Amino acid sequence: ARRGDLAGRRVVVTAGGTREPIDPVRFIGNRSSGLQGYALAATAAARGAEVTLIAANTALADPAGVKVIRVETALEMREAVFEAAAHADAVVMAAAVADFRPAAPSESKIKKTDAEPEPIRLVKNPDILAELCARRREGGADAPGVIVGFAAETDDVLANGRAKLRRKGCDLLVVNQVGAGLGFGTPDNAATVLGADGSAVEVPRGPKEALADVVWDLVAARLPGRTAE
Ligand code: C5P
Repeated sequence: ARRGDLAGRRVVVTAGGTREPIDPVRFIGNRSSGLQGYALAATAAARGAEVTLIAANTALADPAGVKVIRVETALEMREAVFEAAAHADAVVMAAAVADFRPAAPSESKIKKTDAEPEPIRLVKNPDILAELCARRREGGADAPGVIVGFAAETDDVLANGRAKLRRKGCDLLVVNQVGAGLGFGTPDNAATVLGADGSAVEVPRGPKEALADVVWDLVAARLPGRTAE
């Protein structure tokens, strides 16, 4: 049933982790490898979708048959997501986006002196996922039919996941269980996929491709105008 079930669909996937410059050589980053996003892009392409992968600072080979757009910062990712989302049936945001960025990155390398360093002032980054969902609610003409977010939670996984799903306004939220050797940089994942309709699908520990296929099953079932199989 999966083979070709996304044919004719355009999907956008984000992957990796943003880097927020402190100066030309330093940044604030995170440990996201991009493996889950790449698995999502590869499985969607294998199921026939036209895939745009927006990759932030990953060191992985481009998946076959996927258009890859490389970005570095959250602001660059935002621009790329909004541009690609305007023509997409579904958007899956698997990237780890920095919540904050240095307010005024230095144009030259910050030098070590005898004085104590200046503090780095941070400002909030836009929440791309929440913004995309808000635009859709406001009736954005070509907003994607299905929007999926990711969340890494360590405690009260389901309650926190439900609250985040509502706050963001997305259709599905993939809640990862982090810790216990799972998550960043590992080939395996375990997750619960929460739906805005109140559904919860448990995906046991397994390869990131297996979780990706479950996500696309749930996306495919929510795509408007789906032809009967
Ligand atoms: O709020 P939190 O960072 O836990 O949300 C994670 C989800 O929101 C992920 O899907 C991530 O890609 C997205 N996100 C975003 N913009 C941000 C922060 C997170 O789109 N600034």
